[in-house]
Amino acid sequence: MFSDRIHRIKPSATLEMTSKAAELKRANKPVYNLSVGEPDFSTPNHIQKAAIWAINNGHTKYTPGGGTAELKEAVCEKLYRDNQLTFNPEEIVVSCGGKHSLYNACQVLFQKEDEVIIFKPYWVSFPDFVTVTGAKPVFVNTNPSKQNEPDFDDLIRKITKNTKGIIINSPSNPTGGVWSDEAINKLLDIFKKRPDVWIFSDECYEQLTYDKPFKSIATFAPHLKNLLTFQSCSKTYAMTGWRIGYIAGNKDLVKAVSKLQGQSTSCPNSIAQYAAIEALTGDQSCVVNMKKIFHTRRDLVLKELYKISHVTCEKPNGAFYVFPNFKHYINSFDSSGKKIQTSSDLSLYILDQTGVVTVAGDSFGAPENIRLSYATSNETISTAVSLIGSALKKLDF
Ligand SMILES: Cc1ncc(COP(=O)(O)O)c(C=O)c1O
Repeated sequence: MFSDRIHRIKPSATLEMTSKAAELKRANKPVYNLSVGEPDFSTPNHIQKAAIWAINNGHTKYTPGGGTAELKEAVCEKLYRDNQLTFNPEEIVVSCGGKHSLYNACQVLFQKEDEVIIFKPYWVSFPDFVTVTGAKPVFVNTNPSKQNEPDFDDLIRKITKNTKGIIINSPSNPTGGVWSDEAINKLLDIFKKRPDVWIFSDECYEQLTYDKPFKSIATFAPHLKNLLTFQSCSKTYAMTGWRIGYIAGNKDLVKAVSKLQGQSTSCPNSIAQYAAIEALTGDQSCVVNMKKIFHTRRDLVLKELYKISHVTCEKPNGAFYVFPNFKHYINSFDSSGKKIQTSSDLSLYILDQTGVVTVAGDSFGAPENIRLSYATSNETISTAVSLIGSALKKLDF
């Protein structure tokens, strides 16, 4: 009944866990949610007010498919201020969130026979963005003890004449890893001879780095025509529900994505676009404050995790996730004698025993890991991680 296209994509694993948590809550069970992929803060007041102003002043109609001229100007201003990047409005397209930007760019660029390189562990949506176009995702290993930078030998082995794209995500979901300048330079060097390969830099966590300032990949190669920068208002301004993201890069690609949007979503939400102008060009102290809180929480979640035996976790430099390795506990048995065979089994065991919601590494291409989000209160982090420790102690070998 349905097209091949729809069979090629899987439901989002992270959203599945969110609904499991909601189910537990409805049943009045205690829930400690470490699965969330969004800031737990409200959208800052001045941004909310800009949206209310837009409603009261009639900005409630269709806009150009790729976003308003004013918002594109605001994006350019932001990219210059925060990332030292110079773009013109015709090099910007605004979409309904960063996910929409990434999806649309894949639709515009990839098709059957193409190969797209994705680094493992990957954000759950990357392989699906690629497979739905008919292209093939090609997975490249990374080094978990070095912020999940690429395994360059593996990368070189996997590049073929069919390689059409490569997706970089630093800071990363799920690992929180932030690549060093050396790693970025090395990668750009490898692709110097391949202007036919589109380099995607998904920078939706760009404002959340803790140990060193973030550098947008485009600053390393400002004139590269095949490098696309993807950013979003979602995580930076606690605006996940407003759905505003954007691409900065090649004019022709931007035009093609705008055309696709014109014939699909028509345009991003007009009110959210007004809110985004305020977010990007207004007072930025909310970003500084949220980052400070995430930094403290990152240190707290690591401190608690290090108390658990046989769980290893590198210190990630960004985003709001840690991605500990639970290899020791895979193939153990619960009290009923049931074998824990995968990280999904372990994640479910933890949920059943403790009410702590996590996301298993299986869905990120990392079967020994579980993702913990620290976009929640200090109390929830401390209690939840300590509950995970107690549940693991009950496993038999
Ligand atoms: C790595 C990564 N890229 C892109 C996105 C898209 O976010 P949004 O569509 O809300 O901008 C997310 C959201 O979870 C993400 O984790």
